[in-house]
Amino acid sequence: MSSLAGEVGGLILENPVMLAAGILGTTGASLRRAAMAGAGAVVTKSVGSIPRDGHPGPTVVPLDIGLINAMGLPNPSYREFQEEIDIGKTGGIPVVASIFGADPDEFASIASGLTADAFELNLSCPHAEKYGAELGRYPEAVQSVTKAVKARVRVPVWVKLTPNTADIVELGLAAQDGGADAVVAINTLKAMAIDIESGYPILGNRFGGLSGPAIKPVAVRCVYDLSSALDIPVIGAGGVSCFVDAIEMIMAGASGVQIGTALQRGYGVFGEIIEGLSAYLERRSMRLSDLRGLAMRRT
Ligand code: FUM
Repeated sequence: MSSLAGEVGGLILENPVMLAAGILGTTGASLRRAAMAGAGAVVTKSVGSIPRDGHPGPTVVPLDIGLINAMGLPNPSYREFQEEIDIGKTGGIPVVASIFGADPDEFASIASGLTADAFELNLSCPHAEKYGAELGRYPEAVQSVTKAVKARVRVPVWVKLTPNTADIVELGLAAQDGGADAVVAINTLKAMAIDIESGYPILGNRFGGLSGPAIKPVAVRCVYDLSSALDIPVIGAGGVSCFVDAIEMIMAGASGVQIGTALQRGYGVFGEIIEGLSAYLERRSMRLSDLRGLAMRRT
């Protein structure tokens, strides 16, 4: 089998296929299961400084093209979450803690209160008042949050960017200027669905974030634009469901890919993608590094 091992955003991984924040990373047991299923790294559900129940239900609308969620960042607070990270660590792969806060100080104090292999800064959730994209759509905020966290931790810091902006590259450059080790692109696209019988929005929060196959072309474009402009690695997320999608992301410039919505099919998705990627490389006598950024060629 072709080796898929290498460095991604300051972490040495067995393979570049990771569990994305939000979907299954709510417990140590689910993080460990993703590791056992072959993930190269796992990202936790986002945690903040105080416990949150999240938005009222319904919180998810399944669609043929993906799903819309408005969970509302439910979490037990970072203080209650260290134990889950520690259990996740028994899976033997890096555990990346996704964190959110309302300002640089809050982000920095959460990061310094947790032990993880890396941090992913959620500056992109599209449906939580005071958090996520409410800060992350401003380059100055992205830079200052990143800088504050970098000053307090000794592990890699990744910044998950919002696509709900006119120019994702300026956000990526701000993360880079703040000292980020990588950017993750993209979080969900702000979206809504309406029940035509009642005439009400379906989600309790009225709107949420669209993920899954529908957003993959947007994610590929964002990864391409960011990879063309940034010196730090870009990690692709958004609608990756099979090894073909993963290769597309890597050809757009991604150093790694994160899997979220596709895990509705079960943990076996990791194995399918890793085996497909490996077989593709072997068939073509290529290394993973030969694929990266291939779509940027002009000749
Ligand atoms: O509501 C949520 O927990 C989602 C977070 C996100 O989209 O980043």
